[in-house]
Amino acid sequence: CGIVGYAGRSAAAPVLIESLKKLEYRGYDSAGITVLGSGIETYKAVGKIVNLESELPKNLGGTVGIGHTRWATHGRPNTVNAHPHNSGEKPEKISIVHNGIIENYMALKERLIGEGYKFKSETDTEVIAHLLHKHIYGKPDGKEAQCELLVGLREALKEIEGSYALGILSADEPGKLVLARKDSPLVIGIGKGENFAGSDVTAFLNHTRDVIFVNDFETAVLSPAGVEIFDRDGNLTENKIEKIEWDFEAAEKAGYEHFMLKEIHEQVTAIHDTLAGRVSELEGAIQLKELNLSEDEIKKLSRVQILACGTSWHAGLLGKYLFEQLAGIHCDIDICSEYRYRSPVMNEGTLAIAITQSGETADTIAAVREIMSYNCPTLAITNVVGSTITREANSVLYTRAGPEIGVAATKTFSTQLILLYLLAVKFALVRGKLSPDYVKGFITEIRKVPGEIQQILNQKEAIKECAENFARSKSYFFLGRHLNYPIALEGALKLKEISYVHAEGFAAGELKHGPIALLEEGSPVVAIATRGQTYEKMLSNIKEVKARDAIVIAVADSKDTEIEKYADFVLRVPQSGELLAPFLSVVVLQLLAYYTALARDCSIDKPRNLAKSVTVE
Ligand code: G6P
Repeated sequence: CGIVGYAGRSAAAPVLIESLKKLEYRGYDSAGITVLGSGIETYKAVGKIVNLESELPKNLGGTVGIGHTRWATHGRPNTVNAHPHNSGEKPEKISIVHNGIIENYMALKERLIGEGYKFKSETDTEVIAHLLHKHIYGKPDGKEAQCELLVGLREALKEIEGSYALGILSADEPGKLVLARKDSPLVIGIGKGENFAGSDVTAFLNHTRDVIFVNDFETAVLSPAGVEIFDRDGNLTENKIEKIEWDFEAAEKAGYEHFMLKEIHEQVTAIHDTLAGRVSELEGAIQLKELNLSEDEIKKLSRVQILACGTSWHAGLLGKYLFEQLAGIHCDIDICSEYRYRSPVMNEGTLAIAITQSGETADTIAAVREIMSYNCPTLAITNVVGSTITREANSVLYTRAGPEIGVAATKTFSTQLILLYLLAVKFALVRGKLSPDYVKGFITEIRKVPGEIQQILNQKEAIKECAENFARSKSYFFLGRHLNYPIALEGALKLKEISYVHAEGFAAGELKHGPIALLEEGSPVVAIATRGQTYEKMLSNIKEVKARDAIVIAVADSKDTEIEKYADFVLRVPQSGELLAPFLSVVVLQLLAYYTALARDCSIDKPRNLAKSVTVE
């Protein structure tokens, strides 16, 4: 999602529309604005920003306003769920735009309903509007403000768990735009007699290049005359004004050269968002509210059937290992285009899980229709709210990775994995295969993954150097065992997709049954050799490869000193334990593919012959 704001002397609406168009790449299933004219005036529309633009009355007044372009996470894309969300019985008092996820919104919503607040939408954001209203006006029909907007906001934020970048208007405080931030991007643009806000600088880059980045827990007040920023206790702070040198195209990619590189980096926040509200460390519990399966039904499952294509199929293959190893449930996985024509034998108690980032892959939809004809419950894992698969499956779990523009999947893959891990561990807990204590430990560990990925990103220069060394190689091999086997396949796929180098992934044990014949002197072989039950076996495979004069690039734990004896290059990942190491290895391989493609001057975000969403069978 993207939020924008304006406080100036010109009409706000055209400025907001222009800013929203710049943020359209962040998602555009619906959009809306509020301007402070004679009161709160809100307009919304489904689809692209032009639809919203055509809804607006001519000469709309008001010189302060907020806007939002939505990438749905809670609730379908329609006008009711579109932002801004307002509170107060007509005439409305408060209007809000929000980017982020409120984790405790259900509990807050129930409480506010009990206090007489009426909810119109299915969004988590509407909770903030009513909560804020309550802190200022006391009750749903309260007309007299009992405190200032900023004071009420500070109190309301204390009750909110989750991430937010907020833009807020109050009918009783005209001429003011209020902002707040925690864990979602927010930046202020400083103009002359006018000030701007946006989820990123592209929103207002053609008005000003002087910006202030808002920090977590800060609030800000924008007026035509100036900007004031406050810390969490309400003390005025002095944030540095920075000058943005990027052009628009670079700014859209947050300064990264390609969307793919930006999205590789975004895995840190995407994983955090996918976990948000779904795991509770204290209770050792995994809550997947969207899953329409009772504990009893989970206990009775005899089989899981995974259906997917491409990168999503690799996520599914890892899922198979998890369902069998952790939950003790038999799990099959099929490539969708094969599943339909192989006359599958169905047994009772099968849960079908379809994995598709786009939610539109024709082969996947067809396979789901096929399996539903056997009356088997289906669960979809997808990144796109309202996509075709969500209308077919019985339950839908969203990956919440945000829009992925690069054709080669990165953050959608790692967030698919997150959901598969949560499902497998939840099933294991319900079926008595894992103890609540184990699950607590697991939650602690999986929460560390974003930080560990960040450590890899901080050392990406080493991966770049390695990629440049081998960028002219004709053929690459990727080896892995156990949980690293699907990652080897994914590493090879990433490389072929964007750098057009021939690459093959193998289960390392299969090498000797054929592929080893392909090895030549100098062939680069990437061996994923993080510590775990198959580590020693991987070392043997590495020695086999070395004996054929191939070059070994090992992906190994940061503390592993033994590996250096055998491998020519070692790319390090933080020591995380066998179960979660795939999240780290895959980031190394994504970067390896990225820098290889960069060195070969390929079209990284739009590789030849490939599409983000394949709607033909
Ligand atoms: C296309 C994309 C791949 C993707 C595959 C499956 O081929 O280029 O990156 O893995 O489709 O897409 P899905 O949306 O079903 O995950």
